[in-house]
Amino acid sequence: MTRETRLDPADFILPLFVRHGENQRVDISSMPGHAQLTADLLADEVEEIVSLGIPAVILFGIPQQKDAAGSDAYDDDGVVQRAVRAIKSTGTDLLVITDVCFCEFTDHGHCGILHETEQGMDVDNDATLQILSQQAVSHARAGADVIAPSGMMDGMVAALRTGLDAAGFTHLPILSYAAKYSSGFYGPFREAAESAPSFGDRRTYQMDPANAAEALREVALDVDEGADMLMVKPALSYLDVISRVKTAYPEIPLAAYNVSGEFAMIKAAAANGWLDESRVALEVLTSIKRAGADMILTYFAKDACRWLAAAK
Ligand code: PBG
Repeated sequence: MTRETRLDPADFILPLFVRHGENQRVDISSMPGHAQLTADLLADEVEEIVSLGIPAVILFGIPQQKDAAGSDAYDDDGVVQRAVRAIKSTGTDLLVITDVCFCEFTDHGHCGILHETEQGMDVDNDATLQILSQQAVSHARAGADVIAPSGMMDGMVAALRTGLDAAGFTHLPILSYAAKYSSGFYGPFREAAESAPSFGDRRTYQMDPANAAEALREVALDVDEGADMLMVKPALSYLDVISRVKTAYPEIPLAAYNVSGEFAMIKAAAANGWLDESRVALEVLTSIKRAGADMILTYFAKDACRWLAAAK
């Protein structure tokens, strides 16, 4: 009766990895229960997701060809664009969010185009904004419902808003990964999305885990540029950041990403008999919501719906 925080299937967004090819399901070893799926296998997956009451998915693509500019990312026939069309053709009202970033599409694994700097090769922020905008418009043409830029480029939300508006997608909301940390918790995702950087790391564009006030500055910039929804990522080690962002912007829907490493460590401990998986996973998800998240991107989404239903 006095419980303040209640989880509900409607809180969850399930990440899906979509790969090129046909009739293939490639298991992701560090993320038990998750696999890269080809577009033709998505209809069954969508049916299950909808039947559990999950309102939305976010898509990550693994293209056949990677190149320096990540060109599959903005190809109207690219792996994500095909997956969006496949999901939309099921006729369900499942919301399709697309991750807008280049790391899964570039052969070097960085989140944009590179250029030479005094410190060596690094992402060329402004050149990347251009192709990010093309990628977002291409996702929109395929039928995406929400555009979620995750690359932490400066000016990314404004560039996408301008690009989408110019292409006639004035209504399409932007969910910005506004405060995204340079985190070791992304390890399993990089196996899943085959997107580990081939050299260096992402510290020149992602945030220092030691900083929280900076997160509020990053969020303020994205809000000014027109972000419709915000995200903090990862979630579990950044509950204070979630709380501060929600307090500063109570009126803006806030998502938190319970990332791959947060999932994998519970799975591994549970497999060893060291933790009670459902109990700990629901505790973590409840904590993320208690901290202030309105939506949670989580690899536990399907299991959590089942656990919640069983507890009723
Ligand atoms: C980048 C992106 C990453 C994740 C989501 N989008 C990886 C990264 O920044 O290296 C990680 C999500 C996870 O670990 O579950 N496009």
